[in-house]
Amino acid sequence: MSTIIKLENIVKRFYEGQENELEILHGISLEVEEGEFVAIVGPSGSGKSTLMNMIGVLDRPTSGTYILDGINVGDADDSELSEIRNQKIGFVFQTYNLISKTNAQKNIELPMLYSGTDRNTRVKRAKELLELVEMGDRAKHLPEELSGGQKQRVAIARAMANDPAIILADEPTGALDSKTGRLVMDLFHKLNKEKHKTIVLITHSNELASETDRIISIKDGNIVDIKEGKKVKNENTNISNENTGNNENNENNVNNNIIETLNNDNLENETTKQNEEIIKEINVKIDDSTTDESENDEKNEESSNNQNNENGE
Ligand SMILES: Nc1ncnc2c1ncn2[C@@H]1O[C@H](COP(=O)(O)OP(=O)(O)O)[C@@H](O)[C@H]1O
Ligand SMILES: [Mg+2]
Repeated sequence: MSTIIKLENIVKRFYEGQENELEILHGISLEVEEGEFVAIVGPSGSGKSTLMNMIGVLDRPTSGTYILDGINVGDADDSELSEIRNQKIGFVFQTYNLISKTNAQKNIELPMLYSGTDRNTRVKRAKELLELVEMGDRAKHLPEELSGGQKQRVAIARAMANDPAIILADEPTGALDSKTGRLVMDLFHKLNKEKHKTIVLITHSNELASETDRIISIKDGNIVDIKEGKKVKNENTNISNENTGNNENNENNVNNNIIETLNNDNLENETTKQNEEIIKEINVKIDDSTTDESENDEKNEESSNNQNNENGE
């Protein structure tokens, strides 16, 4: 096995040189092996999402070295960074961050659109990924027509779009009831075991963290503990068997305007930086795409799919 994430003495300060300078990460060193499934736990405000921003190259460290899959991230310029991000990393967020005005399949296609994948490949791959997350019958559904767990499965499929080496998930079960969270967790196990993805999972749940290979505890911007997990095997749960009952209140809060959603006070723990960056990139691409063939495709698909015949192509 080889090291895929190598952080050396990563320091992150905000408002550098100003009166209100804040040092959030105080020198994090961490290595993650290819194919490992690690959990990052720690109290709210301890720097988990800030660390995730570093690992996901959404933000640069103030100092320290980050080698991602052999690439020294510090040497890359911004456009190289966004390419590295697009190719190597899939993101999953607590609030799903699906584009509300477009359907599940198109949401999954977006990262591929961004990476310049041709339309046929995009569509084929998106459909395969929908099957992988057992959402094949929901391809044409808008996010608002899906339950929380279903949305998160679509988001996980989107994270897999460019077949990234690494999946970074920031509290992916945080807005789900425990049963639905369990199913999402099973899906991560499946991606880890069957697709050999390296997974970094930020979670508040010690129970879920304990199922991973390694649990990394963060407190006040330092790693305070690393212990081995139980490496629980995928129990092959039927992930469609989701509780769609009670805890869907969160869904009703999800506003059509995604940026508003990200800033929604009810969704307190989300660090918006990473989300905004990704949404910005995705939205730029959506705007671009309306000038190419996909606009007409979309119209055709809409008219031919009013009868729920998703698999009819
Ligand atoms: N872009 C930023 N500018 C200033 N402070 C930030 C920024 N991002 C995070 N912080 C601060 O860093 C600390 C850690 O935040 P975060 O990494 O989101 O913690 P966690 O994810 O563990 O809850 C918090 O005090 C937060 O206010
Ligand atoms: Mg956080």
